[in-house]
Amino acid sequence: MKKAAVVGNPVDHSLSPDIHSFWLNEAGINGIYTKETVKHENFGSFIVNAAKKGYSGLNITVPFKEKAFKLCDVLSETAKELGAVNLIIFENGKIMGDNTDGQGFIDSVIEKIPNLSFKKNNFSILGAGGAAKGIIHALCKNGAKNINIINRDLKKAKDLASSYSGIATPYALSDIEKGLTDASFLINTTTMGMKGGPDSIEINFSEFPKIICFTDIVYNPKTTSLMSDALKSGIKVIGGIGMLVNQAVPAFRAFYGEEPRNLDSLYLVLENKMKVDHND
Ligand code: ATR
Repeated sequence: MKKAAVVGNPVDHSLSPDIHSFWLNEAGINGIYTKETVKHENFGSFIVNAAKKGYSGLNITVPFKEKAFKLCDVLSETAKELGAVNLIIFENGKIMGDNTDGQGFIDSVIEKIPNLSFKKNNFSILGAGGAAKGIIHALCKNGAKNINIINRDLKKAKDLASSYSGIATPYALSDIEKGLTDASFLINTTTMGMKGGPDSIEINFSEFPKIICFTDIVYNPKTTSLMSDALKSGIKVIGGIGMLVNQAVPAFRAFYGEEPRNLDSLYLVLENKMKVDHND
C-alpha cells in the first residue's frame, strides 16, 4: 500500500488528508494519506526514518518547512531559492525536497482566469511571511514585473523586496493607499480574516478603480471579509481553497503515480467539510 502524510504541529485542521483521500478513492488506488503531529525535537528523526517506515513522500507544513529544507539531499530550484520545502519525496535512498505552494497559487488563479497576463498586471501583496515569499517567487517566475509588498512590519516587506529589486516595492500597512494606487491585482497572504485569526482591515475597493481582482489565500471562511469588501465593489474574487488543492496536485502525482481526478467534486466535498467544522 502506498503511504504518505502531512507533517506539522499542529495539523489537526489540515485538509490535505481529505484532498488526497478523495483522489485515492476516485482513482481506486490502494493508498493511504494521514496527518502526523510531530514534536519539534522529533522532526529530524521522523523525516530520516520515514522511508524505512514505508512513506513514499510527505507534505510538510507549519512550522517545519525551513527545517525540512535543511534535511534534504536534493532540492528543486524553487526550494533552493525559497529555503523552504512543503513536499518531500523519498527516491533511491535520497530525500528530495520541493516547494509547490507558489505555483499552486498561480494554478488556482489560472483556473479562474485562464488568459491572465502576469507581465501586464501590477500586483499588490498584503503580507511578507512565508506564504508571501512563495507567491512572489512564483509570480516572478510567471513574468510579473511590478509587485508592491504591503506589510504591518515594514522591515519584513523591505527585506523581501530587496530580493526582487526592480520588481518589488515595500510599503507599510499604514500606507496601504500608496501600495494600492497602481494595483490591478490584490492578494492577501496574511492571516487576517482567517477563522480563529486576527480581525481584518477593511478596504474600500471603489477608491482603487484599477483593481480588477482580489484573491485571498485564506480558505476558511470561504468568503473572507476582504472578499466581501471586494464583491461590494463588483471586483472579481478568488478564494484560497484553489491554492490548497493545486499545491497538492504535484504531491499526489509523486506519492501515488497517478493524475488527480474530478477537481470540481473535490471543491464541493471540501466546502461541505468546512461548513460542518464551522458548526462544531
Ligand atoms: P505565513 O507563513 O502563513 O505567511 P507568517 O510567516 O507568520 O505566516 O506571516 C504572517 C503574515 O500575516 C505576516 O505578513 C504578518 O505581518 P507581520 O510581518 O507584520 O507580523 C501578517 N499578519 C499577522 N497578523 C496580522 C495583523 N493582525 N494585521 C496585519 N498583518 C498581520
